[in-house]
Order: sequence, then C-alpha cells, then structure tokens
Amino acid sequence: MSTIKQQITEINQRFNELITAANDADALEKIRIDFLGRKGKLTDLMQALKALSQDEKRDIGPLLNNLKVELEALYSKKKIELESNQYQQEAESKSNFDVTSYMPNTLRGSLHPYTYITEIIENVFITMGYEIADGPEMEKEFYNFEALNIPSDHPARDMQDTIWLEMPQMLMRTHTSSVQIHTMQNTKPPLAIVAPGRAYRFEATDASHDYVFKQCEGLLVGKDISMANLLATTKTFLQAIFEKEELVLRVRPGYFPFVEPGIEIDIQCIFCKKGCSTCKQSRWIECMGAGLVNPHVLSHCNIDSLEYSGFAFGFGLTRLAMLKYGINDIRMLHNNSVEFLEQF
Ligand code: PHE
Repeated sequence: MSTIKQQITEINQRFNELITAANDADALEKIRIDFLGRKGKLTDLMQALKALSQDEKRDIGPLLNNLKVELEALYSKKKIELESNQYQQEAESKSNFDVTSYMPNTLRGSLHPYTYITEIIENVFITMGYEIADGPEMEKEFYNFEALNIPSDHPARDMQDTIWLEMPQMLMRTHTSSVQIHTMQNTKPPLAIVAPGRAYRFEATDASHDYVFKQCEGLLVGKDISMANLLATTKTFLQAIFEKEELVLRVRPGYFPFVEPGIEIDIQCIFCKKGCSTCKQSRWIECMGAGLVNPHVLSHCNIDSLEYSGFAFGFGLTRLAMLKYGINDIRMLHNNSVEFLEQF
C-alpha cells in the first residue's frame, strides 16, 4: 500500500517537473500520453488499485482521483499557456516583418509592349492638347463605311476585308476611323482626339498579318486647319515615338475616301542606310495614312464645312510597336508567351 502512495507522490513530482520543462506542443503531448493516456502511468495505478482490499481502496482511491484531477488541471493550464505563447510569437514575428529582406525566386510581371507604346502615344498627344477617345469594336456599317464616305457600292470597301456579324448591318470595325464619326457626333468643334484601339480584318494570319491588330486614329477639327498643321503634328509624334530629332519624312498622295487630299506618310528607314529587310530594300517605311477631313464627312456629322476644317490620320499601332521594339512576328504580341513578355 505504501508503495502505491509512494508512487502517487513520485508521479506527482515527476509530472510537475516535466510539465514545467515542456516548452512546445510536442513535448506536452508526450507527457499526456505517458501519464494520462490509455497506457499511461496513472492508468497503471488505477489498475493496481483493483487488486487492493476494500479498506485500501477507500484510503487510496480518493488520493488517486485527486491526483488525476490535479494532473489534468496542470496539463490544461500548460496547454493554454503554450498556445498563447505561440500566438504571441507569431504576432510578433509578423510585426517585425522585414520588407527589405531578400526573397529568392520572386517572379516580377511586366507590361505588355502594347501598354508601353499606347502610353507613349497618349502622352505625346496629351501634351499637344488632345483627348483620348474610344468607340465600339462591334460597329454599325454606317460608322465604319457610310459616314466615312464609303457607300456600299464603293470599290474602297474591297480595300478592307470585313468580318461581318450575323446581325443586319453589323461588323467588327475594320479601322479605328469609325471613332472619328462618334466623336464628331458627340462633340462640337474645336476638337482634337486620338483613339487607340483594336481593328479586325478577314485575313489569314502570318508573321505580319493577324485578323485582329491595333490601330490609332487621330482627328482634329477647328478653324483654318491645313496640311501644314497635319504634317507638323505627325512629324512631332513620329520623332517622339522613335526618339529621333532628325527623322526624315516623305509624303505621298494616298487615297482614303474620308480625307481629301489624302496622303501617306513614310519615314526614312531607321535601321539602315542602304536598304534592309525591314524597309524591304526601299529605305522608306510606311507609317500612316492621313489627310484633310473630307467635307462630306463633316456634313454627315452636322459640322459646317465652310466654317470648319480638320485633319485625320491613322496608323497601325501594332506595326509601330513591332518597329520600335524590333518584333518580327505579329503573333508574338498576341499569344501571351511569358518568355516573350518577360523581355519588356
Ligand atoms: N483608316 C485608314 C486605314 O485603316 C487610315 C487612315 C486614317 C487614313 C485616317 C487617313 C485618315 O488604312
């Protein structure tokens, strides 16, 4: 009997020592299993109690019960203590988070070349007092053709292969020139806008063509606007894009029904002096179509063509991005390859 009492004291002591020393959840769990578990020391004593006489049971039973209650209480107290310590440590480690510490293998995103070039274009024109305009990509035939002086029997419709929609007189815009009409219908002159955006053509895809690509439209309407204003504006813009003061421009007549006279603007090849694959050995690179707004277009938008005149220009933003960043396959711009995009 005395040995059981002795054991009770010993277990109590040992448990207290161990529990004081335990400093993590694993150590605590081990103590619980060793003492309070199904095969633990306390259970062993309970078993031993069964073999004792009634008197002994009456004497030792309460002691054992007390021990059990005491040990369980100590265990619970320690468990709460450890958990709250751990919580505090985590909170502290978060408040000491070092933003300058080295993080290996962090992947950094970059902007798409379209985003870069669109920003440059918009900034150049905003500094010249232009506003950024927008229009629908799914368009009424009227805005893409009629209002731009391209009636349905006009051969110029064949210049741009159209993606027609299964809705009467609806198409995917073949150029951003439709934004000219929306702008003139909604704003009174004087006005000056640029409208970067997507255009669609029914075309097979190869290294330099895609059925979807980007263009940018420019339109200025005011009083006494002349070809000189158009040339000064487009030259300033092209110099800014190619970051070249001494850019040489060439102007050729060009036909677009919505401008009169119409011109095409080329720049002297920026990559070579004698001819290269980019300029197709011609030493000139075609850059944009432009001209003075055709009075018919102004009248379509209820603008008095005797009082107002204007110029318009349009260029392939995709082509410009390819020239500026040396991209030789248009599909690179559209297939979201991370390897390609990482370079920008
Ligand atoms: N919309 C014409 C094209 O897609 C470009 C252009 C715009 C020409 C404005 C003249 C004026 O080819």
